[in-house]
Amino acid sequence: MFYPEELVEEIRQKNDIVDVISSYVKLQRKGGSYMGLCPFHNEKSPSFSVSAAKQMYHCFGCGVGGNVFTFLMEYENYSFVEALKHLAGRVGVTLPEAEISEEAKRQAGVKARLLEINKEAAKYYYFQLKSERGQAAMNYLTNRQLTEETIKKFGLGYSNQTGNDIYQYLKHLGYEDDILRESGLISFDEKHKVYDKFWNRVMYPIMDVNSRVIGFGGRVMGDGLPKYLNSPETKLFDKSRNLYGLNFARTSRKQNFLICEGYMDVIALHQAGFTNAVASLGTAFTGLQANLIKRYTGEVLLTYDSDEAGTKAALRAIPILKEAGLTVKVINMKPYKDPDEFIKALGAEEFQKRIDGARNSFLFEVEVMERDYDMNDPEQKTRFFNEIAKKMLQFTEEIERNIYIEAVSKKYDIGFDNLRKLVNSYGARLGTGENYKPKEYTERKGKNLPGKDLPAEGMRQSQRILLTWLIEDLRLFDKIKGIIAPADFTEDLYKQTAELLFEQFEKEGRVTPAKILNHFESKEEQKEAASLFSLELSSEMSTKEKEKALNETVQRIKKNSLEMQSKEAIAKNDIQTMQVIIKEQTDLQKLHISLTDG
Ligand code: UTP
Ligand code: MN
Repeated sequence: MFYPEELVEEIRQKNDIVDVISSYVKLQRKGGSYMGLCPFHNEKSPSFSVSAAKQMYHCFGCGVGGNVFTFLMEYENYSFVEALKHLAGRVGVTLPEAEISEEAKRQAGVKARLLEINKEAAKYYYFQLKSERGQAAMNYLTNRQLTEETIKKFGLGYSNQTGNDIYQYLKHLGYEDDILRESGLISFDEKHKVYDKFWNRVMYPIMDVNSRVIGFGGRVMGDGLPKYLNSPETKLFDKSRNLYGLNFARTSRKQNFLICEGYMDVIALHQAGFTNAVASLGTAFTGLQANLIKRYTGEVLLTYDSDEAGTKAALRAIPILKEAGLTVKVINMKPYKDPDEFIKALGAEEFQKRIDGARNSFLFEVEVMERDYDMNDPEQKTRFFNEIAKKMLQFTEEIERNIYIEAVSKKYDIGFDNLRKLVNSYGARLGTGENYKPKEYTERKGKNLPGKDLPAEGMRQSQRILLTWLIEDLRLFDKIKGIIAPADFTEDLYKQTAELLFEQFEKEGRVTPAKILNHFESKEEQKEAASLFSLELSSEMSTKEKEKALNETVQRIKKNSLEMQSKEAIAKNDIQTMQVIIKEQTDLQKLHISLTDG
């Protein structure tokens, strides 16, 4: 961090989180907090809560949360410094320039200028499309049945035929060669000759999630090659973590996202009312993109091209999407190649029917597998079923597996029991019988996934509860003093949070959860820490019940901590420490914290 902590904290305090978030989300007062529709995922009833007292937000639906900085980082896709600047400006605090390192300042400046350049270029291309010189491009788009409104919404344009038209224009606006070199719009060769990268092409500005232009795709208007040219990766343009159309899709408030292959597919789908369509940027689908989508929805429908390349791309994308925790279905577009052609031929209503009839991705994978086998040949047919049986083992829950066994056995008419026997025999062969759990599943992290390490999760839960409790009831600090210390928390994040809380309480006699979030740099950590502070302990418990819960929680945490310490001591053969631990373990059994005295 480049700024002193006190300054960061001052800016945070001056920006009331309810005020700031209210300008993005409609909030309604509900008791001590404010509720609204979560801007980070799709929902119909509010589970996004903003607490004025804690100066934090949390969504009970999708788990996002944080303080006023995190909110802007998530919503506006700002870096921490950008969020800080924005909020400083909002309340009239001047940030000391010298506090930023020269390099950081330079980088931030470069990014801002590249954004300007891309924006100017997009405006210029759009203007060219509308001018006489863009007539052919305009005809091209009109022939592809795009309306004026769609062209405007996506900011489509045209790059002129002359060799360095946009270069001249950007120079005229005052941009130097050095920055233009980094924009990806201009090519410079060794002899200092300068060419526009895009010429005589229809231009598709690529926008980030906040509708800022970060690059371009340019299409030839005939059969020339390459069909599309794309901006190279720049300081702004990272193809693996952006999606075409996401800036619109994220507010579409539909139940799912449609993922297609091409720019034109996205545009055609949006024009037909499917405003939840996105596409990757001419590269294979990535895990980063899957996680990006997961912020907004839990289900995706693949509408990849129905040719072999499209099928392959879909097969590659399916596990990536599933890994991110998304439900995946596949839309059948036959006999048409892609959504654009489909809609042109049959219209939006028919496409909606295909959406409604989308197949589960597993059945799609099975269907694709089937193509490799001659189903009239008994031997090949047997091999095919064996392959399916093996694949079935990815379903670790018996119920889920049975559902798929039923679906497949029906489709291929081989009888539920036959297929189930085959699946189980594979499970057995892999050494674990019916309860076989593939490694990749047990290693997965995330909520509610099968194979999660339950005792460890229970311990984390106890630690979370205690942290939440400390924030809600400051009396606890004194009550657990001498029993629980930050070192007793096993997870790094919890340990750090506990340290900060204890320190704040020691120094100031109070705690400021939102301030603690300033200490975590990554969004992931901030989110997790924020969720700690957003848990509500049940207020319906009687004092007696609370007391019992507190004692149990403290005991569990301490017991676990002592066990870990003793393991370590045993490994080191450290008898003295062992003796201390044993004494502490005996004391712990007698421990009773009272909530009524003192
Ligand atoms: P398609 O060829 O399916 O594109 O490539 P499309 O959008 O359907 O194009 P039209 O309908 O023929 O105009 C899918 C995507 O792959 C990338 C682009 O992102 C394109 O949208 N691509 C394709 C390239 O980057 N370069 C190419 O030469 C071709
Ligand atoms: Mn197409």
